[in-house]
Amino acid sequence: MIYRSALKTLSVAACALTLGAGSAMAAGKTIDWAKVPEAKTVLFYPGQTSFEWIQTGTDHGGARSFTKKGDNCAGCHSEETADMGKKMVTGQKAETMVIAGKRASIPLSIKAAYDSDTLYMRFAFPAGPHNAVPFADGGKMDPDNEIKLAMMIDGGAVDKAKQSGCWSSCHHDARDMPSAPKKDALGAAKGIDTSHGYVTKYLPESRTAISLKDDPRGGWDKVKPQAELDALLKNGTFLDLSRFKSGKGGVSEDGYILAERVLKENAGATYTGKKEGDQWVVTMARKLKSGQPGDVAMEDGKTYTVGFAVHDDYVAGRFHHVSVDMRLGLGASGPDVEIKAAKQ
Ligand code: HEC
Repeated sequence: MIYRSALKTLSVAACALTLGAGSAMAAGKTIDWAKVPEAKTVLFYPGQTSFEWIQTGTDHGGARSFTKKGDNCAGCHSEETADMGKKMVTGQKAETMVIAGKRASIPLSIKAAYDSDTLYMRFAFPAGPHNAVPFADGGKMDPDNEIKLAMMIDGGAVDKAKQSGCWSSCHHDARDMPSAPKKDALGAAKGIDTSHGYVTKYLPESRTAISLKDDPRGGWDKVKPQAELDALLKNGTFLDLSRFKSGKGGVSEDGYILAERVLKENAGATYTGKKEGDQWVVTMARKLKSGQPGDVAMEDGKTYTVGFAVHDDYVAGRFHHVSVDMRLGLGASGPDVEIKAAKQ
């Protein structure tokens, strides 16, 4: 405690260097996380359960209630994600590329605070057992980054995002998914960058058609004309995405998802993170209203659907652990708000 309060008196620059993951700091402000209430969730291994999968009755027991009644994932699943993860991680359900030794779930602690212009988040989760062997040379798909932590924010305009969080962006034809197009077919899609050799996340609104059930499932190559995509971005039809990468001492990325995943380094949200004992502790600060395209403008008193993902064990792509939809309330409470951001 003495250590903490002494640090508060140091200069902004010194804080950034020494305080690291213990506190989020932006605009010279330090949050005392000990005073902020904690929300807990369990991230689970989702396998190949895509936007198309969750809406197809022969795949998913909850498809009908999700599509017809508007039920949300959390409503049926929030208490059982650890058990769900076991089914995909072992290949019992919706997974054709099993990673031996991968954990089924990861408990995640989430704290949030805000002031007149910034949202601060703090995440903590146990570091991996590292007995998983991803299928990559040397066992590491992303050798530079032991972990990555991502946060998605829905501004309210995206189809089914309020009910499903990240699932609106996860499709059956994305990288390593069952309907992923062959590399030499990728040039067929205009308006997205496929030069890296695969299809990234995209939103239903960015495509002219999406096949839920019939093969090939998804709609990767049915990209709407650029003028329509521009209009969607302008009117708030995107998922705000930011993430922390643990390599190089910690890298912050910020961007959004619409026709594809767009992420740039140091473009808004600022993350810090480090391993403290057997825990990873990651903090984030972002402007409530940045004015940047692809950033949700957040307001006091409002609630936002959010989703989280952790890549552990140096994995990449879809081999992550994810949350179901969660609600983040800025001064807004209520039974459905799991993450109550404390005003500072
Ligand atoms: C109305 C309740 C309901 C809703 C809403 C619902 N599900 Fe399900 N879900 C089920 C049922 C029932 C099963 C089948 C469980 C079984 O076979 O034991 C299931 C199975 C799953 C599974 C496979 C793992 C397992 O335990 O079988 C995943 C993954 C899953 N759901 C994800 C989701 C996601 C993501 C959403 C939101 C987009 C969602 N579900 C919405 C009821 C629901």
